[in-house]
Amino acid sequence: MKYEKMEYKLKKALDTERYIHTKGVEKTARKMARQFGVDEEKAGLAGLLHDCAKCLSLAKMNKAVKGYPVDDLMRESKSLLHSAAGRCMAESVYGVTDRDVLEAIRWHTTGHAGMSNLEKIVYLADIIEPSRKPFPGIEELRTLCMEDLDEAMHKALLMSLDHVASQGKTLHPDTLAALNEYEPTGKLLEQYEGVNAHED
Ligand SMILES: [Fe+2]
Ligand SMILES: [Fe+2]
Repeated sequence: MKYEKMEYKLKKALDTERYIHTKGVEKTARKMARQFGVDEEKAGLAGLLHDCAKCLSLAKMNKAVKGYPVDDLMRESKSLLHSAAGRCMAESVYGVTDRDVLEAIRWHTTGHAGMSNLEKIVYLADIIEPSRKPFPGIEELRTLCMEDLDEAMHKALLMSLDHVASQGKTLHPDTLAALNEYEPTGKLLEQYEGVNAHED
């Protein structure tokens, strides 16, 4: 499918705010890809489509992931499931066949252990794109995102952990696994055992 057609379809599938966010992620992902020598077209495409399922109901998201492996924690949460649903729809609705792009969409919400640079870029661009509502630390994170992908990931994952912990919510095990790569002592796992109620 041509890029323009994808944009046209997306515009209809998303609300205005989400579409603006999407274009911001696309642009930021391209910029970061240039900076770190990652394929810019793949980054742009993954950025454009990363939230393509975001405005669907939970039931429709679950329909979209039929036959694709997702855990129960994801199945029950729109904010988690839209990434897997988006991955499936990028393939089935938007005709994307590039696995790197599909995987970057799949992991943009939770992250996971052993992320590719393309996946890191989409994960981070989603958090720092220009239309994001400012939050404490966003400017430092924006700077890091153009300097060091792994330091930026570490900081972003810690912020996500703080956010989840402050709301008394459950951190997805894949996020914890991503974070533990940067925290080799395993201290975090112990510290947040109570938060991560679904770990076992
Ligand atoms: Fe998203
Ligand atoms: Fe997003």
